[in-house]
Amino acid sequence: MLTTTAVDLTDPDLWARPDTPGLIAELRREAAVHRTDTVDDGPVWSVLSYRHSAQVLRDAALYSSEQGSLLGAGEGNVPVGSGRMMALTDPPRHRELRAPANPFFAPGPVRGAARGITDLAASIVGKAVELGEVNLVDAVSALPLSVMCDLLDVPEQDREMVERVCDVAFLGNTPEERRAGHQQLIPYLLHQVMLRRMNPKDDLISKMATYRVGGKLLPVEDVVLNLDNIVVGGVQTVRHTAAMGLYTLTQNPELWRKLQRGEVGMDSALDELLRWTSVGLHTLRTASRDTELDGHTIRRGDRVAVWVWSANRDPEAFDRPEEILLDRSPNKHLALGLGAHYCIGAPLAKAELGALFTAMLERVDTIEPTGPVTHNRSIINFGLDHFPVRLLPR
Ligand code: HEM
Repeated sequence: MLTTTAVDLTDPDLWARPDTPGLIAELRREAAVHRTDTVDDGPVWSVLSYRHSAQVLRDAALYSSEQGSLLGAGEGNVPVGSGRMMALTDPPRHRELRAPANPFFAPGPVRGAARGITDLAASIVGKAVELGEVNLVDAVSALPLSVMCDLLDVPEQDREMVERVCDVAFLGNTPEERRAGHQQLIPYLLHQVMLRRMNPKDDLISKMATYRVGGKLLPVEDVVLNLDNIVVGGVQTVRHTAAMGLYTLTQNPELWRKLQRGEVGMDSALDELLRWTSVGLHTLRTASRDTELDGHTIRRGDRVAVWVWSANRDPEAFDRPEEILLDRSPNKHLALGLGAHYCIGAPLAKAELGALFTAMLERVDTIEPTGPVTHNRSIINFGLDHFPVRLLPR
């Protein structure tokens, strides 16, 4: 019998341990919903089962995002974007903030951009193959960053700075470091919003900068915060899912070969790799009134952490969850969220990952690890810092 205090889910090192899947499975069986004291955020309800995770995520009014959607901000700290950034806003305001960005992420426009994404992925993979030996995490990062910069129409000379700042803003080791990252990104975005309000074009920044709710322009701070949300949400997630996905395939060479021989489709393979990697390990909510979850009384103001990684391995929701079945169907994983806050960038993320994996499978015969991988220390975007490999061309 495992006690709920024996496993500290907020410890980033836990997620890199080989015995973690077993520990999490045991904890899910014994205490699918339980309350623990976390070091940074005080008492938090941890939700490990798929059913209860879905219950929380589906009810965005009861389980509010306004007090923060991620652990690590520190107990009692409310993030600056609360009530103004789409990830940190509840309905109905949430819908208003999502509306101007929605058309850019709809499947149609993403299909339109797919050709460019495919070419970009091919060129990134081509360069990596020419180099022969690379840190695959760095190599794949170039794709989401370029796609994001295209979406925002970021001038060429600013692109490197935007990448560096995104790294710190999302993957800094302490809340202070992460805040400092955002503090650099925000003035840059503010400048761009002001420029494009005066001279709007067809890009996402211009659309958000000139969007009106009830005849009024969105406050400039809200435009910037939402752009920040999109930049940060769209770069690191794809980078880590791509690197972790490729790492998973090198650990399971029979799956790599199956994909290469075209025995499974890319769409179902992507969903399975999203489920398996679940790089966004958790998401946080705060109860807006007293309620009940799995027989527990959740009080208004209680914080509830949904452990997506665990929900995505729940045997009640997935047949043989501990196996990677690239043709799994159905596959209702929560790696891209569920309900009102379902990832706005999901079609774009899939287009990027599909293009990258396809380019890799076409150009590379074998991905040969050349040294130890190191995991990053993040429960926000759990991934790899170093994945040194040799790419043997086909
Ligand atoms: C594999 C890549 C991705 C993963 C795993 C991922 C994961 C997620 C998840 C789990 C959520 C829901 C969070 C919650 O419920 O609190 C979310 C929301 C969001 N994602 Fe993604 N995401 C990815 C790619 C992207 C991309 C490419 C973009 C933009 C270019 C993006 C922008 C956003 C935004 C703005 C939200 C907030 C939506 C809202 O609150 O309405 N994401 N993402």
